[in-house]
Amino acid sequence: MKIPKPRVPNLAFGRVGRRWLANDVAATQLTNAVNLLFPAGERFFIRSVRRYQDRLPADLRARVRGFFGQEGRHAQAHERFFDTLRAQGLPVDALLERYEYLAYGVIERFAPPLLCLSVTVALEHFTAILAENALCDSSPVTVAEKEMRQLLEWHAVEELEHKSVAFDVLEEVAPSYALRMVGLAFATATLGGFWFWLARELWAAHGITTFDGLRALHALRSKATASGRRIDPVILRVFSQGIRAYVRPGFHPDDIDHRELVERTLARLRAEGVIAAAA
Ligand SMILES: [Fe+2]
Ligand SMILES: [Fe+2]
Repeated sequence: MKIPKPRVPNLAFGRVGRRWLANDVAATQLTNAVNLLFPAGERFFIRSVRRYQDRLPADLRARVRGFFGQEGRHAQAHERFFDTLRAQGLPVDALLERYEYLAYGVIERFAPPLLCLSVTVALEHFTAILAENALCDSSPVTVAEKEMRQLLEWHAVEELEHKSVAFDVLEEVAPSYALRMVGLAFATATLGGFWFWLARELWAAHGITTFDGLRALHALRSKATASGRRIDPVILRVFSQGIRAYVRPGFHPDDIDHRELVERTLARLRAEGVIAAAA
């Protein structure tokens, strides 16, 4: 199995605008909301897996080290983007403080380590679906401002490279279908809850009500459909399709082969100078 390779992207976010996704405030803030979840979430993944590192066979331990390197760099890159959001006047720090306290100061503190690992595995599955969607030809990411498209594509490609690492760790230390399902339930509730809450807060910061935000997303999808680009609501893509795949008893993240998509995207990022030629 290939070892995930951490890369340092060449990205600057100073020029990123307030409507960097599809020139639309509602869609941009919905995506900024999930961006806010990433850094602390990725550090939670690392903590959850690290507890079991010493129990793993050498080849899986090597993949885990690559996973740590990739997630750590994702967290740093998204945090650099937060400076741009701060400069735009968004209440980034107040929102992060509330999210991090509740998610990691309260929920993680009382959750048993195996549950944290199982939640990590389910969240990595949702992240892989987001990544696959970000890289498909009809993805809204294709109409994002260049720096943000490159950030999301670099992140997505590495998510697909390490999509099975946490899963294989759970299989190694606690191969239980019931535990995997409990993790899925917690992951769905926390990702869905925090993402929706942050989107509402960011919409509110722009004077947009929840109803108007949802209506704007619907209008954007209708416009895309009319121009021949079908975009499913994110809730269907991530949660409905994702859960259906994950509850199958024999599920494994490598059931879908993403290697061609990964290589094609890496070639584009190299050609654009986002990652080094040898990366
Ligand atoms: Fe990541
Ligand atoms: Fe990941």
